[in-house]
Amino acid sequence: MLYDEARDEVCLLDQRLLPGEETWLRLATAEQVADAIRTLAVRGAPAIGVAAAYGIAVEARRGASPERLREAAALLARARPTAVNLEWAVRRMSVRIGEPASSVLALAHAIRDEDEAACRRIGALGGPLLPPAARVLTHCNAGALATAAYGTALGIVRAAHEAGRLAHVYADETRPFFQGARLTAWELQRDGIPVTILTDNMAGWLMARGEISCVVVGADRIAANGDVANKIGTYALAVLARHHALPFYVAAPWSTFDPSLPTGAGIPIEERDSDEVVRIFGRLIAPEGVAARYPAFDVTPAELVTAIVTERGVLRAPYGAAIRSIAG
Ligand code: MRU
Repeated sequence: MLYDEARDEVCLLDQRLLPGEETWLRLATAEQVADAIRTLAVRGAPAIGVAAAYGIAVEARRGASPERLREAAALLARARPTAVNLEWAVRRMSVRIGEPASSVLALAHAIRDEDEAACRRIGALGGPLLPPAARVLTHCNAGALATAAYGTALGIVRAAHEAGRLAHVYADETRPFFQGARLTAWELQRDGIPVTILTDNMAGWLMARGEISCVVVGADRIAANGDVANKIGTYALAVLARHHALPFYVAAPWSTFDPSLPTGAGIPIEERDSDEVVRIFGRLIAPEGVAARYPAFDVTPAELVTAIVTERGVLRAPYGAAIRSIAG
């Protein structure tokens, strides 16, 4: 994600079109950025926070009044409900409303840079947790595309690869938006990291055959007790990992924690249009008019999580105390 200061535009690689097409969107209003977030042109918890920050900055740089900036902030904050990084970034940016546009943009750049630094630290702390010759299963895309750069879950994968500890990555395709098949596979393949795609129903069998050594996923919101919201399907992987006695690691920056929620029961779960389930790239794959559900996230209870890797340290149960110890 880039901010073009000469033209005052937010530049985003359109993730709806990957891997087939590498098209950069140039966005000049908060409405356009909110729309890119809603339609998943940009997605992934930290990335939508950074995009929202730039969405406010672009309005400030184009001369928006404080009132208009407050409206833009509210619009961006409600673009998607589950990833708390969005509200977190908007809350931080809102403090600068009324200051010179250069200062608003400087904070958006800082949010971007901090996220990249957090991901690199998560990689450095999490990489050594993996066993030698690790065969890692991941879900959705918690990589460079989902963050400012480097990734959270894929940050750990990248660090393990750089340290020679990684044998292979298995990427769930992640129905219905195919973040795994399209995005995780794309970014790992470009970096020369060995990756194999699985459909979402294959993990249990590969675990039973001893082909997976651990699961590493990202997160969209982590409650005060360590319950983790992440892409739908994550909970099922955690249950499978427990059954097969495999470590289940969650990687997330501090901006993904929501200490105001005592447990995951309070995390708002986005329900997306069921049309996204019954159509693949516009083509209907189910009977016309059939009912379908699309809860976009699920919540994994803290008890199924082996460790949460953050830039502030590696957290282990009891998570309530561990999270309080890194807060502030
Ligand atoms: O609907 P998405 O693609 O935005 O969902 C993304 C995820 O669930 C990721 O795992 C999460 O945001 C972590 S990204 C570092």
